Amino acid sequence: MENKKILFIITGGIAAYKSLETIRELRRDNFNVTCVLTKSGSEFVTPLSIESISGNRVYSELFDLNEEHKMGHIQLSRMSDLILVAPATANIISKIAYGIADDLASTLLMATDKPIIVVPAMNVRMWLNKSTQRNVETLKKDGIEFIGPESGEMACGEYGEGRMTEPGKIVDEIKKYIDKQNFRPLKNQTAIVTAGPTREMIDPVRFISNESSGKQGYAIAEMLQHLGAKTTLISGPTSLGAPKVTKLINVHSADQMLDACEASLPADIAVCAAAVADYKIANKISSKFKKTGNDQKITLQENPDILERLSKRNSLRPKLMIGFAAETENLQDNAIKKLSKKGCDWILGNNVSDNNVFNQETNKIFFVTKQYTEKWGLMSKKEVAQKLCKKITTHLNH
Ligand code: C5P
Repeated sequence: MENKKILFIITGGIAAYKSLETIRELRRDNFNVTCVLTKSGSEFVTPLSIESISGNRVYSELFDLNEEHKMGHIQLSRMSDLILVAPATANIISKIAYGIADDLASTLLMATDKPIIVVPAMNVRMWLNKSTQRNVETLKKDGIEFIGPESGEMACGEYGEGRMTEPGKIVDEIKKYIDKQNFRPLKNQTAIVTAGPTREMIDPVRFISNESSGKQGYAIAEMLQHLGAKTTLISGPTSLGAPKVTKLINVHSADQMLDACEASLPADIAVCAAAVADYKIANKISSKFKKTGNDQKITLQENPDILERLSKRNSLRPKLMIGFAAETENLQDNAIKKLSKKGCDWILGNNVSDNNVFNQETNKIFFVTKQYTEKWGLMSKKEVAQKLCKKITTHLNH
């Protein structure tokens, strides 16, 4: 853990005395620790003792010119690898959940893009309070990690859940977390992922498209990247923010998506998660179409099948070609048929019969390879991405 920099936020709880021991243990493991102390935290531990143990100066004021040169709070979070909040009171947890930034600690937590680990410590009733539990759920959904709390006797004499985890265990959990983050089994691989819908223009302002949100494809691209693969995400129009991938290529039509895929070869892995329109407009109109008083016909022309094209390439075919099959009936049969028709290696079949997949957070997958099939049950799209990437990792590393 040499040179790993931890920004250690100490908030106001009686358990703050354990923070001193935690800092000591972190330093023993060669972490570099810089502390931020909230106003109420300073009622329990002093800046002097923290400074002596951490070996670095302690920050506490948001508007102190000496401490905070211009955008100092952002700087503080930028120079760290990880932010640890220990002890984390119900108050700071609720501030993170609601995006309140009214002191240095909460502002740092809002301004950071680094991983955050929260170690709660509070009275059992405060911990079990519905609003705390709601806020904890919010934080977890936002990707914030938790260590503890533990059950046991509390400083106030009550017994229950809410005790801060012991320093040794906190440090072990942090090391485990960092090891997990550094796990890069796909670091020598490159990947292409297609996501979202395509738009097939009728005239300059009207188009045919579908309800795909892109969530599943984005989750897969981010997971592949996270595992070390150099990932190019080729996305149709979505309302999602830019994901953390090596390259994002925004496209509109199926033709553009195919061109972008071809231009991104060679790749080891290709996951075609986009809901590509099967047809484009054959007789596209170059100026805005006007009402004529008569019915009009649109002629549809079949789009190229990107998954099939990439799968059947003679040269530069990705080693692992993965597609999706959104079906309203005979999911299993159709997914198996699609696998052989398109020449891909794996298909993730999903049932879209009651419009329960597009734009939703969950997916129910029927996983098909040439050798075997699996039913995955209801999962979040992130979990589907995790499970799929685990399979990709195992497949490519054997
Ligand atoms: O044939 P169907 O549209 O059901 O196939 C779905 C799979 O094929 C998905 O992986 C989708 O991304 C891909 N596909 C494609 N190009 C198309 C149509 C579908 O890559 N034109």
